[in-house]
Amino acid sequence: MTPALRTARLELRPLTPGDAPFLLRILNDPDFVRFVGDRGVRTVEQAGEYLRERMLEPFARDGYGQFLVRVAATGEAAGTCGLLKRDALDDVDLGFAFLPAFRGRGYAREAAAAVLEHARDDLGIPRVVAITAPDNDRSARLLEQLGLRFERTVQLEPGGTALRLFVPAADAGSAGPGAPGTAAGGSPRAGELG
Ligand SMILES: CC(C)(COP(=O)(O)OP(=O)(O)OC[C@H]1O[C@@H](n2cnc3c(N)ncnc32)[C@H](O)[C@@H]1OP(=O)(O)O)[C@@H](O)C(=O)NCCC(=O)NCCS
Repeated sequence: MTPALRTARLELRPLTPGDAPFLLRILNDPDFVRFVGDRGVRTVEQAGEYLRERMLEPFARDGYGQFLVRVAATGEAAGTCGLLKRDALDDVDLGFAFLPAFRGRGYAREAAAAVLEHARDDLGIPRVVAITAPDNDRSARLLEQLGLRFERTVQLEPGGTALRLFVPAADAGSAGPGAPGTAAGGSPRAGELG
């Protein structure tokens, strides 16, 4: 069973079906739509379906996925953060999305650092990468603070958006086997978080 994670200010637990209303807010946040994509999810029912198919099933299959991030002191749901294995990338990648009210406080950084530690220490995944839209500067800055570095652009599907691939700083500049170039035929859309 996947553990809950705890940081100085946050609690992270795997998403559950009851998180559909919160996920609906995340998916329709203007910055999420701009930088990650419009999932076309407009109702709680649709969010529940999206959650089940795109987030809960991968978590059950792979043993990892997206966590709900809550502020420990208040119990408020602030965002999602976790790991995703896409067909189009060899490496597991990191994703995060926070509601606007919970940005600019270092929560995303704190949650993502805990997820990277969980990947390495609990899951035995030594290399986690991240992809982000070319103009998503907040995300890029966060990734750099986490110790990742821009390596190159990738497309998750032929003709898709050129996304920035960030890899662990120690690997940056060396195109290893875990860092494919254009990855064709991947089912997830460009920039998808989970
Ligand atoms: C990307 C995203 C998660 C970044 O969120 P964020 O809140 O900017 O990220 P951080 O947690 O790193 O917070 C950094 C800010 O908190 C501030 N901060 C305040 N208190 C802090 C603390 N105790 N510790 C660290 N930083 C703190 C920092 O100074 C920084 O502010 P600044 O940008 O004004 O300098 C957020 O913009 C988002 O959800 N966007 C929409 C979805 C998205 O694009 N996801 C990424 C897809 S790849």
